[in-house]
Amino acid sequence: MTGTPLLRFEDVHLAFGGLRVLQSLDFDVRAGEATALIGPNGAGKTTVFNVISGVYRPQSGRVLLDGRDLAAVAPRQRIRHGIARSFQNVRLMAHLSVCENLMVGQHVKTNGLRDLLAPFRLMGNHRWRREAIDALAEVGLEAHADAPVGGLPYGIRKQVDLVRATLAGASLVMLDEPAAGLNPTETNALRLHLERLKARGITLLVVEHDMHFIDRISDHVVVLNFGRKIAEGSLAEVRRHPEVRAAYLGIEEAA
Ligand SMILES: Nc1ncnc2c1ncn2[C@@H]1O[C@H](COP(=O)(O)OP(=O)(O)O)[C@@H](O)[C@H]1O
Ligand SMILES: [Mg+2]
Repeated sequence: MTGTPLLRFEDVHLAFGGLRVLQSLDFDVRAGEATALIGPNGAGKTTVFNVISGVYRPQSGRVLLDGRDLAAVAPRQRIRHGIARSFQNVRLMAHLSVCENLMVGQHVKTNGLRDLLAPFRLMGNHRWRREAIDALAEVGLEAHADAPVGGLPYGIRKQVDLVRATLAGASLVMLDEPAAGLNPTETNALRLHLERLKARGITLLVVEHDMHFIDRISDHVVVLNFGRKIAEGSLAEVRRHPEVRAAYLGIEEAA
């Protein structure tokens, strides 16, 4: 095990009424690595993301980012602390171009949410535009710079969303089922994109059902079932774990 933890869950408990969704959850996301969070539907994976982004507050336990308790950081401030999230339904502004969407991200980093949508300022900022185009070129998407986001295939929008997170200065990017709905070519392009992010030192936390994808991208795998961590290690290690086989991979193999 190498790397210092960028993110740490310490004995986190979360319940909705009587339903215990996360139970004494402990795990680390090491800096610069891709950590995969896997488990059956309803295991609590998306809830973990919601806790990190501040949508839910745990009843007990701590979530530390770089050693700092996130309870002290308001949800809206978390992006400024380098936490970015890529949603299953990409949340880009469909009527704006790819470049404009990226420039909004840069604007958030620089000026916060104040006068967020001041299109003339965005358009006038040539440095931001250049940075946005450079970032697109790095992942082979520069041809789409001026295309309205709404007209692009889902796989491309997904990647533009990742470029947005990177330009906004994310150090931790959370992806919830990024390969869902992508064809094999798009999945491969996404994987290469994530590898580039990792090469730049960006830490990834990925929820994904596609085990082949997990196998290619992840350095470490954490398995949840009913809100508890039942195993962690390499994918090969967790696959051998009896509780994992019973709870999760067993379902897949039986199918
Ligand atoms: N806001 C909520 N209120 C009540 N129950 C919730 C809420 N969010 C999630 N849950 C429940 O928490 C459990 C874990 O959900 P979730 O984290 O979405 O699972 P996963 O992403 O692993 O499929 C499920 O039983 C789900 O119904
Ligand atoms: Mg989920």
